[in-house]
Amino acid sequence: MRVTCIGGGPAGLYLGILIKARFPSWPVRIVERNRPLDTFGWGVVFSDATLENLRAADEPTRREITQSFAHWDDIEIHFDGHTIRSGGHGFSGISRKRLLSILQQRAAELGVELNFQTDVGDIAAERERCDLLVGADGAHSRVRQSFADEFHPNLEPRRCRFVWLGTTLPLDAFTFIFERTEHGWFTVHAYRFDEELSTFIVECREETWLAHGLDTADTPQTIAFCEQLFEPYLHGHRLLSNSGHLRGRDWLNFMRVSNERWSFDNVVLLGDAAHTAHFSVGSGTKLAMEDAIGLADALAGVESAGLEKALEQYEAGRKLEVLKLQNAARNSTEWFENVARYATLPPEQFAYSLLTRSQRIGHENLRLRDTTYVDRIERWFGGRAVPPMFVPFKLRELELQNRIVVSPMDMYSSVDGTPGDFHLVHLGTRALGGAGLVFTEMTCVTREGRISPGCAGMYLPEHVPAWRRIVDFAHASSRAKVCLQLGHSGPKGSTKLLWEGMDEPLDEGTWPLVAPSAIPYSSRNQVPAELSRAEMDEIRDAFARAAGMGFEAGFDMLELHCAHGYLLSSFITPLRNHRRDEYGGSLENRLRYPLEVFRAMRAVWPADRPMSVRISATDWVDGGVDGNDAVEIARAFKGEGADLIDVSAGQTTPDAKPVYGRMFQTPYSDKIRNEVGIATMAVGNITDVDQVDAILAGGRADLVALGRPHLADPFWTLHAAAELGYEEAPWPVQYLSGKEQLERLVARAREAAS
Ligand SMILES: Cc1cc2nc3c(=O)[nH]c(=O)nc-3n(C[C@H](O)[C@H](O)[C@H](O)COP(=O)(O)OP(=O)(O)OC[C@H]3O[C@@H](n4cnc5c(N)ncnc54)[C@H](O)[C@@H]3O)c2cc1C
Ligand SMILES: Cc1cc2nc3c(=O)[nH]c(=O)nc-3n(C[C@H](O)[C@H](O)[C@H](O)COP(=O)(O)O)c2cc1C
Repeated sequence: MRVTCIGGGPAGLYLGILIKARFPSWPVRIVERNRPLDTFGWGVVFSDATLENLRAADEPTRREITQSFAHWDDIEIHFDGHTIRSGGHGFSGISRKRLLSILQQRAAELGVELNFQTDVGDIAAERERCDLLVGADGAHSRVRQSFADEFHPNLEPRRCRFVWLGTTLPLDAFTFIFERTEHGWFTVHAYRFDEELSTFIVECREETWLAHGLDTADTPQTIAFCEQLFEPYLHGHRLLSNSGHLRGRDWLNFMRVSNERWSFDNVVLLGDAAHTAHFSVGSGTKLAMEDAIGLADALAGVESAGLEKALEQYEAGRKLEVLKLQNAARNSTEWFENVARYATLPPEQFAYSLLTRSQRIGHENLRLRDTTYVDRIERWFGGRAVPPMFVPFKLRELELQNRIVVSPMDMYSSVDGTPGDFHLVHLGTRALGGAGLVFTEMTCVTREGRISPGCAGMYLPEHVPAWRRIVDFAHASSRAKVCLQLGHSGPKGSTKLLWEGMDEPLDEGTWPLVAPSAIPYSSRNQVPAELSRAEMDEIRDAFARAAGMGFEAGFDMLELHCAHGYLLSSFITPLRNHRRDEYGGSLENRLRYPLEVFRAMRAVWPADRPMSVRISATDWVDGGVDGNDAVEIARAFKGEGADLIDVSAGQTTPDAKPVYGRMFQTPYSDKIRNEVGIATMAVGNITDVDQVDAILAGGRADLVALGRPHLADPFWTLHAAAELGYEEAPWPVQYLSGKEQLERLVARAREAAS
């Protein structure tokens, strides 16, 4: 098999090595436009796990690389006159030049043909001359571009500019420096990679870069600017550039690259050509080299399965891992793009938020790295060393014993809106289970406002005592507080029980629907009637009446459901609201009615009890509500006296394309909390203590709601306490023997594992 690889960066060279080491008879040619060590940038980092992968793939290369490593353990953060250090992070750095030289040498030793200073223009012609063409030609890949119809690339230039400099400043930690200028924030990512040199990447928002005139600065001017800005940290050391071959283009935009497909016929993409991961997660080179391992492994099966199958196998084997890292990298990229948002946090929380920005490192993971640091954070967050989730929280006069919330979940088990024994046991058990706050399911303010015939309501007089029984039980038997979520189904009403078909219209017993506009939720659902002003008054009054009934029933808190495509959510999203009156059009108009409803409820609800609003912070569709709108929505409700925004997302249209993943909605909570300055509740695929504590300590939310985990385990909070060795969580006295046994078993398991 004749292999031609366009690009002699880490991906191409390592692939050449691995192929030659396994299949010595295959001719492998690498074509590189630069001279051998004519590289931009300075150092790259690897984790211990990556090194293990390299060990298995080609031990001589790994040995050479590790001999050239600079190791460090700590991360040091300079922000707002504070220096915060956290340990145990274990990085290894190597000069990019040294890495390339090791790879070039090993490739040559094994018989790879290396052609330098050859810029391949005609990709199709190269393809004709080989059996396998590898596009390892970096983020701006010509191979990818030449076959764009096959690969379907998605290129997303990001908002910051960065320049990759070096310095002789000896650093003993991975160092982040944040400096504010009159035009915005500058960030430094710096780390040592050999005896003499450190990488020094300077990054800022595009508008900051333009405002400082850096778009017209040449290399010496860029260096002079950065040296002056970071003078207090450089201790007399100079900044250096090696980007001569970039012809003055010192400042770059990071380009996020992904491709629907990585291969077709006899062409395959590798490394940055296939996908990029922002330099702040330090994984580009790792991914590039691991791709090479994946491709070399897959090629082992080429004789039996054929080339196309082997390439498909490579793609299938790598894609998930890459996607996970790209998701983490996206969080990290966005963090650095929004330094101004986080700069409002106290320095301790700013640093914690930075350390956990990618959502890959959780609280307990940080504790493993540096117990003292985590102790310090916990003392700062809670006044004493206690897991953040067990720190009480106050909203108006409501005091919650901890930050865990049972998310609202429809049980579809009411009879004409009346909650019964099922609800008493269901919500009662979750109150006993230790959560600080238990939400009711969406409780509908009219019979026609129900989603299904089984939905709970607050529209008949008998609903008050039925709810009162449940709230009284929770209050008498636990420390949990109870929040009533009020809503109206709008265009998503008159549907079957969840387990009979989600959003499926009823076969019989249907009722007419209303909505801001006559747009059905999906082609299967009924077309709703557009609400008249008089009908809007009636529904608003029903919300206010239900709020009053909620007070009679003894609820501690009230939530207005403005999410998930139900009535009020349909007013807010432009996808569902095509009205031409003052309730449609601009976001301000679309918010008018939901705010009016909120105001009517707030007027009835006692001033000492809090109110929250659940929103869909994005429609996950172009042209729908996005994160910036969500900030405005939250700000508007805050203006009306909302105490907390319950940040959900989506479910407003069947066309949504959600980006799922763990904690996938939390970035919206983070954005709203820190841009609006209002308490938020994060929800959505948050499943373990590590995630919960990191969200809270990092200031991404004030409360964390868990839905499905509470269906699986009503005692989630008490189990979490035992897992964390936190003995103060109050168990129901009737269950204390269970507490003691569980704590003993957990302690024993921990001992056995250590
Ligand atoms: C500021 C910054 C900091 C980074 N820090 C880190 C880090 O700390 N750790 C880390 O792991 N990664 C880091 N990276 C990412 C890392 O540089 C890349 O992910 C990695 O180099 C990808 O390897 P590659 O071989 O796929 O692409 P590249 O290294 O870009 O190599 C592609 C090669 O193809 C050549 N080429 C392109 N077109 C042609 C053509 N038409 N003909 C011939 N040759 C061609 C190029 O000259 C180049 O040498 C960083 C990136 C940046 C921008
Ligand atoms: C069975 C079920 C019913 C739900 N009912 C409601 C509801 O009545 N009101 C609401 O706002 N969200 C409702 N949700 C959404 C949850 O509150 C929560 O936002 C969602 O399940 C994501 O959180 P999780 O990943 O922790 O489950 C429901 C979710 C489930 C699984």
